[in-house]
Amino acid sequence: MMNDAAVVILAAGQGTRMKSKMAKVLHRAGGKSLIEHAISASLAVAPKDRVFVVVGHQAEAVAAVASEAGVGVFEQKQQLGTGHAVMCGERLLSSLGGILLVVNGDCPLVRPETLQKLVELYRATGSKAAMVTTDLPDPTGYGRIVRMTGGDVAAIVEHKAATPEQHTIREINAGFYCFDAEAFWKHVHEIRTDNPAGEYYLTDMIGILLGAGHRVTALKVEDSTELLGINNKVELAEADRMLRERKVRELMLGGVTIIRPETVTIDMGVTVGMDTVIEPFVQITGESAIGEGCRIGASSIIDNCVIGDGAEIHPFCVLSGSQFDASTHIGPFARVRMGAHLHEGSHVGNFVELKNTDFGAGSKSMHLAYLGDSTIGSKTNIGAGTITCNYDGRKKHRTNIGNNAFVGSNSTLIAPLTIADEAYVAAGSTITQNVPEKSLALGRSRQVNKEGWTPKR
Ligand code: UD1
Ligand code: CA
Repeated sequence: MMNDAAVVILAAGQGTRMKSKMAKVLHRAGGKSLIEHAISASLAVAPKDRVFVVVGHQAEAVAAVASEAGVGVFEQKQQLGTGHAVMCGERLLSSLGGILLVVNGDCPLVRPETLQKLVELYRATGSKAAMVTTDLPDPTGYGRIVRMTGGDVAAIVEHKAATPEQHTIREINAGFYCFDAEAFWKHVHEIRTDNPAGEYYLTDMIGILLGAGHRVTALKVEDSTELLGINNKVELAEADRMLRERKVRELMLGGVTIIRPETVTIDMGVTVGMDTVIEPFVQITGESAIGEGCRIGASSIIDNCVIGDGAEIHPFCVLSGSQFDASTHIGPFARVRMGAHLHEGSHVGNFVELKNTDFGAGSKSMHLAYLGDSTIGSKTNIGAGTITCNYDGRKKHRTNIGNNAFVGSNSTLIAPLTIADEAYVAAGSTITQNVPEKSLALGRSRQVNKEGWTPKR
């Protein structure tokens, strides 16, 4: 990070080609919005209080993401071009000095190292401006890099303004710039709108600084995929795929086994420990943290969960916002949500739903149950078909079950309710009153056998 660097992230445009009601930079790839990607790359080169997002379309929503990340914003009320967008920050930025980086907000794949290299090149060459470029097989739509004999940059010509001969240039401007702040603010008002779009092009600064006798250089990047700019939803899906490919690669190099990695969907914010095995078609999203030596079964969906070492999630589980301690076994076909906490070694089997429930160490609920708003102690067994009736139509109530208790199959537990330690509930009971320690509760009518009834029927 460089303390004399300031960054402006261009994010005021609507992104017409996205054909969406939502501003372009709020669309997501790899589990983060485009603007969040731009902010995290920027924070690798400049301190928080020197990073600014230019907002315009859906300014409030974009500004909310910026302030969540702790960076500044300024507004561009009318989108008069990328040059104009930076000019809108003049009052905030022109006194900062040092270097001014400008980053397109719609390029989520750029690596922080590329921005660092851009600054290094800028400094090493004594330039007043430097930009990132790359060769593209199809450069349509991008600004083209025109080079002088000798190799230095002569100009950036926008696609719309380029001559047929310039259209054949494959080296393009990626939308990442480093300027000498003093020179930039001295000359920025020389940008004119005499181009086919009638806009203030930031790219005109290159010609302007060259005209003032300064040196301009370019960092040409080999891997052009990193510089993909998102203008439509096809490119958005492409960026999403590439970011997730990067993520699974990073996890596999860190010791995670991923079976058929091309089928899994893992967000950037997820961590997974060594020797964990991830089966095909798994989705792990949000800030989920998975321990070492776990198994995540095929097609399970895990959002914002913490999973301890050695846990086994069997196939087809849907888990969100919950914690699973070491050596827990879940599923197949389990649903756990809203702040549930499963303590060490507990088992939850097929077709069991837990909501906001604390499930004690070594306890089991192996089949077909709903356990909501409950606190269940350790080594307790919950029989198949058990339901906590937590909702009376107006309010939610809690069910408390102690340690070493046994709830027989098909029991209906009407909350608020306490079943104390070592108590038994007979199968098929409807329980409405608290059950004391070490007692048996029977909440069902007695069976009557009518002998010889069938022939008389
Ligand atoms: C821009 C560059 C082009 C480059 C390409 C790389 C200019 C004039 N052209 O073109 O040389 O090859 O990026 O992807 O800069 N924005 C604002 N305010 C505005 C206009 C745009 O904030 O008034 C923001 C957009 O929200 C977007 C970024 O600037 O995040 C780039 O704008 P976009 O319209 O996508 O520029 P390109 O035509 O792609
Ligand atoms: Ca663009």
